Amino acid sequence: MLFKQQALLRQKLFVLGSLAIGSLLYLVARVGSLDRLQPLCPIEGRFGAQSQEEMPLRALQFKRGLLHEFRKGNATKEQIRLHNLVQQLPKAIIIGVRKGGTRALLEMLNLHPAVVKASQEIHFFDNDENYAKGIEWYRKKMPFSYPHQITIEKSPAYFITEEVPERIYKMNSSIKLLIIVREPTTRAISDYTQVLEGKERKNKTYYKFEKLAIDPNTCEVNTKYKAVRTSIYTKHLERWLKYFPIEQFHIVDGDRLITEPLPELQLVEKFLNLPPRISQYNLYFNATRGFYCLRFNIVFNKCLAGSKGRIHPEVDTSVITKLHKFFHPFNQKFYQITGRTFNWP
Ligand code: A3P
Repeated sequence: MLFKQQALLRQKLFVLGSLAIGSLLYLVARVGSLDRLQPLCPIEGRFGAQSQEEMPLRALQFKRGLLHEFRKGNATKEQIRLHNLVQQLPKAIIIGVRKGGTRALLEMLNLHPAVVKASQEIHFFDNDENYAKGIEWYRKKMPFSYPHQITIEKSPAYFITEEVPERIYKMNSSIKLLIIVREPTTRAISDYTQVLEGKERKNKTYYKFEKLAIDPNTCEVNTKYKAVRTSIYTKHLERWLKYFPIEQFHIVDGDRLITEPLPELQLVEKFLNLPPRISQYNLYFNATRGFYCLRFNIVFNKCLAGSKGRIHPEVDTSVITKLHKFFHPFNQKFYQITGRTFNWP
């Protein structure tokens, strides 16, 4: 009898305990999702009149919620009017460099409550057909944001496309330009790896990197190969400098963004005149991915897609040495122009 009562009591305690734990877990998840989906008070009152300096950290959670929904196209006209949302031309553009870490930079900057990213690469300035559609077409491609926020887009093809500097200048001559660079040979191999993967997906064969990067007739570096040309950063930058002063550019160290993202992001915050809001809390190292991932709040975090962080093929060391030697003088010039020095070979 006594044994039966004890068993019943244990059962009851177990059920009560499970209920308590379940409720607690539900509450934690609910608070997180409420933060993301609903503002606690009307937006105009809460954010409208505030300067960026006063912007509360809570805006970060809020941004993930309602704005995220709006960006997915779930906003009604009434909601847009009520929340005073606008589609703004970018105040800053990540113009390149392809495979430098442009996606990581954009996503990480988007952690900032005052930054709203254009999710897709818009290719407005480098694509004649898009450019012909006019600036309003471009603006309409921008995400909804609050007036005090800044919109950032990234299209790495801008950096290397001849017509782009003049076109961007015509839109906004005081725009801020971000360039993220990696050690040029590594970047070229990363570029090759992306193309190689595309070919493999279509069951096509492709040349080895060595064959493309070195001219078989001269045994010199093949400057006609696009992956090599793109890594001659100074050549491209010089074209941009015909339109914009160097103060309007900020160079991001893409290699450091991989290993130690926070200080790089803090430099960008400074360059964009944003209050420092991105913290170590927002970035955590994911050992499985081998990269830093993003934490928006206790509920929402994400890593970049698997296409970011590919394994590079082995490249002949003599080719690597040749490329290092080739890029060296261009790199020196790049350091001189930008005032940012890297430990590239
Ligand atoms: P690899 O694939 O060569 O490793 P982009 O976005 O301009 O195409 O750049 C892609 C590169 O971003 C990747 O090159 C990767 O090394 C780098 N990267 C930087 N930070 C990253 C992160 N947190 N997660 C994934 N990739 C990151």
